Amino acid sequence: MKKYQKVLTTILLGGALVGSLTGCGSSDTAESISTEASTKEILVMGTNATFPPFEYVDQNEIVGFDVEMAGLIAKELGMELQVQDMEFEAIFGALPNNMIDIGMAGITISEDRLAQVDFTDGYFNTKQLIIAKKDSGITTSDDLVGKKIGAQLGTTSATFAKLYIEDVKVIEFNKSALAVADLMNGTIDAVIVDAAPAQELVKGQDSLMILETPFAEEEYAIAIKKGNSELTEKINVALTSIKESGQYDELYSKYFTETEIDK
Ligand code: ARG
Repeated sequence: MKKYQKVLTTILLGGALVGSLTGCGSSDTAESISTEASTKEILVMGTNATFPPFEYVDQNEIVGFDVEMAGLIAKELGMELQVQDMEFEAIFGALPNNMIDIGMAGITISEDRLAQVDFTDGYFNTKQLIIAKKDSGITTSDDLVGKKIGAQLGTTSATFAKLYIEDVKVIEFNKSALAVADLMNGTIDAVIVDAAPAQELVKGQDSLMILETPFAEEEYAIAIKKGNSELTEKINVALTSIKESGQYDELYSKYFTETEIDK
């Protein structure tokens, strides 16, 4: 991790400096500088750092379970990890354009996405949960009929809400935290979001609760450019070795407790 952080800092500082002198595109600059910083090949991870504990910004750094998982994968492949933050939906466009090598952002495997990208084996099982105000009278997903639901733009939370809840009005936000803010000020009735981020979002908010019944069950995997089976295969081998060596369990227990969400 230390080494990667150092390289990333070099890229960012270098990018800003050279970019301001020459006025050239920052992505080109970042690439040439990162090559100088390491002899290793770079594995570029596209993410959306609004999703703690999987990916979020802490003291100007992108950290979280996915970032550390990607670090372990890069190590297995003998590569250097570089993380690029972007809008969640942009990840799916950045892959075919070769702007990133992998999309890793708590991405749920879905039929729609399989038409656009390939997925590695799954690395995390989760659920979609419903957040509501304690005094709202909403106790199960049946109570969401005809209601205003907030969800992050382009996520399965938004798609599934539109698909499975009758007469629903889905309002899409750039990040789930903004949906929760609107829930608290009464503009919307509930928020649908993945389990662990839901726990983070209600922390310290006494007026909010997470409904007991999950809205959907899902599995996260790493998205790869369609047809790049060589990289998909390599990452699947790396994932197996990370699981078998105990590194996965170690990382898991750093971020999650068994009682928080089911493994
Ligand atoms: N699992 C959901 C999906 O794939 C939400 C993921 C949101 N991730 C993020 N980093 N914002 O649609």
